[in-house]
Amino acid sequence: MANDRPAQAVILAGGQGTRLRPLTLARAKPVVPLLNRPFLAYQLALLREHSVTDVILACSYRVDDVRAALGDAGHLGVKLRYVVEQEPLGTGGGVRNAADLVSGTVFVFNGDILTDADLTAMRQFHEARGSRTTIFLQPVPDPRQYGLVETERSGRLLRFREKPAADEEIATDTINAGIYLIDAALLGRIPSERPSSIEREFFPALIADGIPCFGWCPSAYWRDIGNPGAYSAAQIDLLEGRARMLLQPPGERRDGSWVAAGGSVASDARLVSPSVIGARVVLHPRCQVGPAAVIGEGSTVGPDARVESAILWERVAVGAGAVLHECVIGADVKIGAHARVGSGVVLESGAVIPERTTLAR
Ligand code: GDD
Ligand code: MG
Repeated sequence: MANDRPAQAVILAGGQGTRLRPLTLARAKPVVPLLNRPFLAYQLALLREHSVTDVILACSYRVDDVRAALGDAGHLGVKLRYVVEQEPLGTGGGVRNAADLVSGTVFVFNGDILTDADLTAMRQFHEARGSRTTIFLQPVPDPRQYGLVETERSGRLLRFREKPAADEEIATDTINAGIYLIDAALLGRIPSERPSSIEREFFPALIADGIPCFGWCPSAYWRDIGNPGAYSAAQIDLLEGRARMLLQPPGERRDGSWVAAGGSVASDARLVSPSVIGARVVLHPRCQVGPAAVIGEGSTVGPDARVESAILWERVAVGAGAVLHECVIGADVKIGAHARVGSGVVLESGAVIPERTTLAR
């Protein structure tokens, strides 16, 4: 990548987010809130940190949500352009659809990866190896739901197997972390007229054709936020310092939490850090919020209620004496007085939970 050319990135943001339902029934996965900011803002912050400011978003599904949340992302210090597929083109076709807008060496991101990896080091690795495609790799305990990548000692790619069905094909615990550096000249290999998979078609064909491709395996924080458990865990990781906060949550620091403007905290409410309290949130007398609670804008927590290790989207109303623990609550949900919402529960936006109901998984 020539240093005088501004670096570019394509972010794949056109999946349906099926595994993150019901949250993604109300909002596209790339912009679900993470500590009260749209998810992609973290990827854009990372790219910007490494001087990648020309970013193309490859969208197909719910693009209006994404535009509403991010616009041209000027406020995040990058220039965001949108390319929209008429029909979903898959991970290969999505990148191909953006190919006319990129040149040189381009970063490609899956739009659901939270990481603080050193992209500058990745670029240096790519250049030093004379690589034409470099894949960010991570070791994971259970690789089955990912793309499996086998490499030579030098890092050169030997094999890429996307989610192999048969257990005997699980020959490694090293997976595709969903961030690539690709020589844009190779993108012409992806068919433009039909959906295709970058994982099942493009990468295996590069390896088969002897094109120099390498795996880069840094020690970095990494998580795919594409299911509710991982989506919650990512926020707790940020709050508890396991992941570097590339962006601060909105609000001012107060005793280890972040509290945004316009709300009120009763003098005898307990705010336990680390927590994030959105704008115009009202915490009523004697409630306990935190540790590790994220309360979306305009929400209210009733008297004597308790919210712990829980993620609440915007305008949630928690009734008096209700208890929420390790759950995710969509926007505009009403939780009746003295209801209990337990571990692993995910409530769709707009749900109404009657008084004294117990929900557990
Ligand atoms: N533009 C566009 N069009 N984007 C798409 C489409 C499409 O038709 N389909 C999926 N995407 C986007 C998704 O929005 C997501 O950001 C990214 O492509 C990857 O899709 P996922 O559905 O999240 O894939 P995955 O998590 O099962 O597997 C992928 O990520 C793993 C790492 O988390 C693969 O790349 C695996 O190889 C990898 O290990
Ligand atoms: Mg994913």
